[in-house]
Amino acid sequence: MEVIPGDIQAFAEKYTSPEGDLLYRLHRETYLKADQPHMLSGHVQGTFLSMVSHMMRPRRILEIGTYTGYSAICLAQGLEAGGMLHTIDVNEELEDMAARYIAEAGLTDKITQHIGKAAIIIPELNETFDLIFIDADKAGYGMYYDMVWEKLRPGGMILADNVLYHGEVVLHETEQSNNAKAMIRFVEKAVADDRAETLLLTLRDGVMLVRKK
Ligand SMILES: C[S@@+](CC[C@H](N)C(=O)[O-])C[C@H]1O[C@@H](n2cnc3c(N)ncnc32)[C@H](O)[C@@H]1O
Repeated sequence: MEVIPGDIQAFAEKYTSPEGDLLYRLHRETYLKADQPHMLSGHVQGTFLSMVSHMMRPRRILEIGTYTGYSAICLAQGLEAGGMLHTIDVNEELEDMAARYIAEAGLTDKITQHIGKAAIIIPELNETFDLIFIDADKAGYGMYYDMVWEKLRPGGMILADNVLYHGEVVLHETEQSNNAKAMIRFVEKAVADDRAETLLLTLRDGVMLVRKK
C-alpha cells in the first residue's frame, strides 16, 4: 500500500532542498546493489533527519540500522563540534559501502560503525545520547526503546521509522503483517509512557518522535 501518493511525494521533493551529489549517488548505488533499497530513508526524510539534527545540535547520536549509511550521513550533519554518531547494523556486507560514502562525506571521525546485533551492542555503548534513530528490525523496536531509555538524556529525542508500516497499521488485524502489529505495539507503548511526549508524523512510511521529558 502506498502511504504518500506519488504526485504528492514528487511535489514534496521539488520543494525540499536538493539531495546533493553524494547522497544522490549513494541512493543510486543502493538501488543498483543492495537488497530492499526502499529501506533507505531518501531525499525528503533524509532532509528531515538533517533538519532535526541541526535544530538539536547533538553531541551524541545513536542509530540502530545503518544499511548503506544514508540516514547516518544526514543525521551527522547537525552534530556539534567534537560530536559522534554511533550506528549499528547486523549486516556486515554493507559495511564497506557505507564506510566509503561516510569517508567521502568527510565524516569518518564523526561516525563510528558497529557491526552486530543491536541488542548486544547497545549495552556496550557507555554514552548518554541526545538523539536516537530506531530503524532496524520492527519486532525489536519495543525492546530497543527500553534498552536506550536510560541512555537518553532528559529532553533528548527518539525518532522511530516505519511506524505506519506501508499503511498496514490501519487495516483489519487479519490483514496486518507481524511487522505492522509490532509497530502498533511500539506506538502504543510510547504513547502510554508518561515519561515521554510523542508525535506521529505521516512522513514517508511514518516517523514517530518521542521526547524524554
Ligand atoms: C530500514 S534499514 C535502515 C535504513 C537506514 N537507516 C537508512 O535510512 O538509510 C534496516 C537495517 O537494520 C538492520 N538490522 C536488522 N536487524 C538488526 C539487528 N537485530 N541489529 C542491528 N541491525 C539490524 C538491517 O541489516 C538493515 O540494514
